[in-house]
Amino acid sequence: MNVLAVDGHSQLKILITGAKGLVGRALVEHCSRSGDEVFAYDHNALDIADARATESVISARRPDAVINCAAWTDVDGCETSPEKAERVNALGPENLARASRNAGALLITISTDYVFDGQKEGFYTQRDQPRPISVYGRFKLEGERGAQEAHARTIVVRTGYIFGPGGKNFLSNVVTWAQRGQKLKAIRDYWGTPTYGGDLAVRLRELAVLDLPGIYHVVSSGDGASFETFSVEAFRLAGLNSDLLEVIDGDSLGRPAPRPRNSRLKCLLSEAVGLSPLPHWQDGLARFISHG
Ligand SMILES: NC(=O)c1ccc[n+]([C@@H]2O[C@H](COP(=O)([O-])OP(=O)(O)OC[C@H]3O[C@@H](n4cnc5c(N)ncnc54)[C@H](OP(=O)(O)O)[C@@H]3O)[C@@H](O)[C@H]2O)c1
Repeated sequence: MNVLAVDGHSQLKILITGAKGLVGRALVEHCSRSGDEVFAYDHNALDIADARATESVISARRPDAVINCAAWTDVDGCETSPEKAERVNALGPENLARASRNAGALLITISTDYVFDGQKEGFYTQRDQPRPISVYGRFKLEGERGAQEAHARTIVVRTGYIFGPGGKNFLSNVVTWAQRGQKLKAIRDYWGTPTYGGDLAVRLRELAVLDLPGIYHVVSSGDGASFETFSVEAFRLAGLNSDLLEVIDGDSLGRPAPRPRNSRLKCLLSEAVGLSPLPHWQDGLARFISHG
């Protein structure tokens, strides 16, 4: 089989960008625990928008795989500063792809469910045509395509609604904020497939071992959830009083960037290449709440 390592326990040389973000941290932890040689670069250590710095770091380290967890994830910020969004989210992956190709490394770059327009009922698969409706989604899609064009040995991992330790987003903080007595607004009419960062990290490494280029949709199992459904489950697991939860319509927030109303993902490839489904998001949430 065409694999970077013969089994999941073999040691890899993995270079991780965005190493201090939600997914980056989980991945550094998982790869280190798996015995890999990990080169972890946070934003300060490597700006992926800087082509020359990217080339120099990757050519010096000569990793087996580069896993890109860096992105500008402020969806509303991207809407109002498109030049920065393009530099980081479109040119960044392309820079990494070129440098990975020159160094003979596999590239895995993370993309988003926001490449879709949200009009579909049901799950988005790789057969669905992306049609981003926000600046963030548009440049993430350009990042996917730029990376694939620059380097054939690229794996694009689309995911969404991620939660886990160190996350800055609503899903990662709903319990902590409620425990501080904060009232929370939970959106009831936007749906995605919640994904536990720890489980995503395990899958990213499995994909590095497999070394089979293509686009993968990687999300926790389950039928998906709205922010309301997710919050209600988080409150239940944490033993919190749901009076703190105010249920609202997403559009009432007047956010600068439009979001897809339904961005639930399913993968056509994972099972075919021998990967089992990730644990259910409620299982991931229970683990997150009980031990971070
Ligand atoms: N969170 C979600 O729900 C979600 C959903 C779909 C897809 N994704 C994708 O998943 C990936 C990981 O996101 P995440 O949730 O871990 O986000 P995150 O917590 O915001 O982490 C992203 C990291 O990238 C760093 N970064 C920003 N600009 C950079 C640059 N120019 N060069 C190097 N590093 C840079 C950030 O550092 P600073 O904070 O110091 O700038 C941050 O540590 C991203 O590709 C994101 O688009 C996330």
